Amino acid sequence: MRILIAEDEKVAQKVLQRFFFRLGHEVFVAENGKKAFEIFKQERPDITVTDWMMPEMDGIELCQEIRKMQLVPYPFVIMVTSSDVKSHLQMGYDAGVDDFLQKPVNKLELKIKIRACERVIDLQQREQVLHNQLAMTLKISENKNSYLEAMMQELKSAQKSLEEALEAAKESTREKSAFLANMSHELRTPLNAIIGFSEMLQEDAEEDGLDEIVMDLNKIHSSGKHLLMLINDILDISKIEANKMELHIEEFLTKDLISEIVNLFKPIFLQNENQLIVECAENILPMMSDITRIRQVIYNLLSNANKFTKNGEIRLIVENQQVLDRDWIFIYVKDAGIGMSKEQMKKIFNAFSQADSSTTRRFGGTGLGLTISKRLCQLMGGDICVKSQLDAGSMFTVALPITINKQENIQSEFEFNLMFQGMRAHL
Ligand SMILES: Nc1ncnc2c1ncn2[C@@H]1O[C@H](COP(=O)(O)OP(=O)(O)OP(=O)(O)O)[C@@H](O)[C@H]1O
Ligand SMILES: [Mg+2]
Repeated sequence: MRILIAEDEKVAQKVLQRFFFRLGHEVFVAENGKKAFEIFKQERPDITVTDWMMPEMDGIELCQEIRKMQLVPYPFVIMVTSSDVKSHLQMGYDAGVDDFLQKPVNKLELKIKIRACERVIDLQQREQVLHNQLAMTLKISENKNSYLEAMMQELKSAQKSLEEALEAAKESTREKSAFLANMSHELRTPLNAIIGFSEMLQEDAEEDGLDEIVMDLNKIHSSGKHLLMLINDILDISKIEANKMELHIEEFLTKDLISEIVNLFKPIFLQNENQLIVECAENILPMMSDITRIRQVIYNLLSNANKFTKNGEIRLIVENQQVLDRDWIFIYVKDAGIGMSKEQMKKIFNAFSQADSSTTRRFGGTGLGLTISKRLCQLMGGDICVKSQLDAGSMFTVALPITINKQENIQSEFEFNLMFQGMRAHL
């Protein structure tokens, strides 16, 4: 502690000085109130132990001067007096004295009073530290707030520009889709004429035995059909993107649809020496959905399986499952073909995307089949997922609700992922 002694009696002064010094305090001494106040202003002691009666400035006045300064941390004043303490108590109290001691000073009493002051001073210091920390925290949080506000502002303007860009992109997609839809429509009419006429001419040429012309006409006919298929795909994807794809919902027997597709595909599979194995439950539930679009999806998956497998086994598994309180049809197309890497799988549901560019060269196609199939399934309240391994084959899984209910919320992607995981475990 830093202690100031204001005492005009030399002996009493020495006694106090030695006493405090031995206790390890830093001590300042003055022989009257005026000098004591000068030292006080310079040294700011923690405790002032002052005599009452002194020349030039007494202890009461010294205390009043100290209190006028309104200092923080609070400086303690202990008054030592030889007069009857009680009669001066009120004066001392009014002047701001904290404690009194009667002369001759009882050292233990003084020790106790100093210790009490020490404790309060310690608390004051701790409070000051806390106060500083709080002020710093407030400053930091103020800075943080203004930083956050600036960030929010930036985010808002970024969001606005994004929204504008998105709206512009949507608008141009709509325009592009409308253009493609019109173009495709315009192209289909003459193409149908080419296909029809080449068919008729083929028949005539066959009757007339013009074999060479038959072969050429055959090429025209199959190229026309291929072109028509491409145009149909472009028309489909344009309609889907323009939100103009409409479903035609009707009730049909799932089993009949499957056998119709299987009959269609058996000869096609033979061309690639593939074997089609069908597992469709006898009691498979009838569906209330768009039969044409489901046929298109299964058709796409089976032609892919056949295209990318040579001399292998292709399985078509059809079954019902109850998931998320609904009846679903699960269609699995599993092949033993070229398979795909993880990187390749990421791209295949994007329009005009193929697993890698060499696929186009080797197998042909535009990369629209899966995009259309996925979007069609989603439109019917379902989804498609794939599991594959390079050189080990692929398995596509289609999940569709047995009955389309347009009012119902479509499952989230997350729910589908869970559902597909469950189904994979089941296989
Ligand atoms: N069963 C499969 N095995 C291996 N790769 C496959 C399989 N199915 C699809 N893929 C890969 O995914 C790509 C995209 O398939 P998608 O059906 O969309 O297009 P495509 O068959 O190339 O052309 P399109 O179907 O438009 O004629 C394929 O090019 C192929 O790389
Ligand atoms: Mg395909």
